[in-house]
Amino acid sequence: ASGCKIGPSILNSDLASLGAECLRMLDSGADYLHLDVMDGHFVPNITFGHPVVESLRKQLGQDPFFDMHMMVSRPEQWVKPMAVAGANQYTFHLEATENPGALIKDIRENGMKVGLAIKPGTTVEYLAPWANQIDMALVMTVEPGFGGQKFMEDMMPKVKEVFGSGVHWLRTQFPSLDIEVDGGVGPDTIHKCAEAGANMIVSGSAIMRSEDPRSVINLLRNVCSE
Ligand code: DX5
Ligand code: ZN
Repeated sequence: ASGCKIGPSILNSDLASLGAECLRMLDSGADYLHLDVMDGHFVPNITFGHPVVESLRKQLGQDPFFDMHMMVSRPEQWVKPMAVAGANQYTFHLEATENPGALIKDIRENGMKVGLAIKPGTTVEYLAPWANQIDMALVMTVEPGFGGQKFMEDMMPKVKEVFGSGVHWLRTQFPSLDIEVDGGVGPDTIHKCAEAGANMIVSGSAIMRSEDPRSVINLLRNVCSE
């Protein structure tokens, strides 16, 4: 793949120092921030919501790109609050809504980019009808809910979008579609993701637990450019 963006997930950072942790990632060369919102219902964990995003925006300024990963049961509810708080991209789960079309429209009307996420158990078939209306497809490589889980290599065919004929189906049809992977991605697993064609790389614990986040971010980016 030619050129990836690296978005650290701050889920496993010191959440009491979230602003400082985000700054540390940006200073280490992060291309964007992947912010994990969990409601304790769609996933068995709770993180934070739009008030925290608003504070982060105030502290970090207008530049950093906030990719909101909305692991919530009613994604319709938070579109406007997140837009007002300063989110740039609103990535919702296909499994969480009955009406993706209306939600996509609402996200756009609120000035944000649209991301559509699928859990490991959801096939690309369900995502494909929306591919011409979204900016990014997120193929989860773990069950959403927690950082530090093992990368599911068997999700790579979904990233490749192999539909029988063996072509990169979605990318072929929609060359500007971003494809993001999230969960267990780090120096040991980035090769598979890059080879499959992902161009937005979320990495949480592999970056957060490193003494030298800059070198991990560089390594991930370099593998993508090979
Ligand atoms: C998991 C989250 C991920 C997670 C990634 O539900 O969506 O963004 O924080 O962390 P790692 O890279 O540690 O799997
Ligand atoms: Zn995430």
